[in-house]
Amino acid sequence: MREIVVGGQYGDEGKGKILSYLALADEPEIVARGGVGPNAGHEVHYKGKRYPLRLVPCGFVNEKAKLMIGAGVFVNPEVFLKEVDLINGQHRTFIDFRAGLITKEHIERDSASENSKKIGTTKTGCGPAVSDRVNRIGRMVSEVSELKKYLTDVPKAVNEATEVLIEGTQAFMLSNLYGTYPFVTSKDVSASTIAADVGLGPTKIDEVIMVMKSYTTRVGAGPLKNELSVGDATARNMQEYGTVTGRPRRSAPDLHFDDLKVAAMINGATQIAVTKIDIRFAGNSGVREYGKLTKEAKAFIEDIERKLDVPVTLIGTGPDAMDTIDRREKESD
Ligand code: IMP
Ligand code: MG
Repeated sequence: MREIVVGGQYGDEGKGKILSYLALADEPEIVARGGVGPNAGHEVHYKGKRYPLRLVPCGFVNEKAKLMIGAGVFVNPEVFLKEVDLINGQHRTFIDFRAGLITKEHIERDSASENSKKIGTTKTGCGPAVSDRVNRIGRMVSEVSELKKYLTDVPKAVNEATEVLIEGTQAFMLSNLYGTYPFVTSKDVSASTIAADVGLGPTKIDEVIMVMKSYTTRVGAGPLKNELSVGDATARNMQEYGTVTGRPRRSAPDLHFDDLKVAAMINGATQIAVTKIDIRFAGNSGVREYGKLTKEAKAFIEDIERKLDVPVTLIGTGPDAMDTIDRREKESD
């Protein structure tokens, strides 16, 4: 089985947590990352330790899996090498040899540009690196000698393997094609593009899991319906801070179903993962069986299924990878 995990809102839905659970539960041979680059912060909590990852796949928690970064992803060598050290993954981490490079100059451009400030980018150099590649003047990972030993042919590996978990980054509402343009990231990040990033054609994908949080958050500028003040968000325990930039996230207390319906359609979602149900509804922290969720939490899940017409198969009830209800195999309710 080849499954792709994508974000259904503005990023920070908890993809890292769902991915780390899937890497343990589904035992993929390869966990491959698509998306833009180190602008994404996926946070993994595992065995009491927190891992904020920006390039290396969150699926590292499964020690048997090979970890791969697709050609579509832009690599900052410093960030990559640090994360490989953090997870102790020298022997099993790879980058496609066609991936583009993020240089110091890209980061400077991303920090200095007035337009980046207007959008509120992560200043990680992703946008300028993507634009250099589009203009065919971008540099490649193969030019960096420290990266040479990590380079491989990712499409060949993921097409040959039968069990592959593919990590999307950012999220639908930040897609350069389908999001709230111009307040978006520098690439499309829907499931089709994530598949292309790692070299898989659309017929090779079995499942698309769209992750959504039980409420809505956004970092950076751009529209956000029903936005809460920081005070109100704090009172509801919904105030969050960015993994990459540490910036306070903006939040809204509800779900935006008009947007989520489009996200489910264009991603071709076959399953939905709902995270942070424990934050939205008290009394659900650490629950691992659907039947043990509170009545209001179950009604909330069923409402999502009705409105999006996609089954909610995974439910996050806490930060640890294993604080997850998995309804895929058999219903426990
Ligand atoms: P850039 O991707 O750094 O160019 O930033 C463009 C917009 O996307 C900004 O609003 C960022 O805050 C947002 N963004 C980029 N990556 C992520 C992410 O992984 N999570 C949440 N927001 C992101
Ligand atoms: Mg994030």
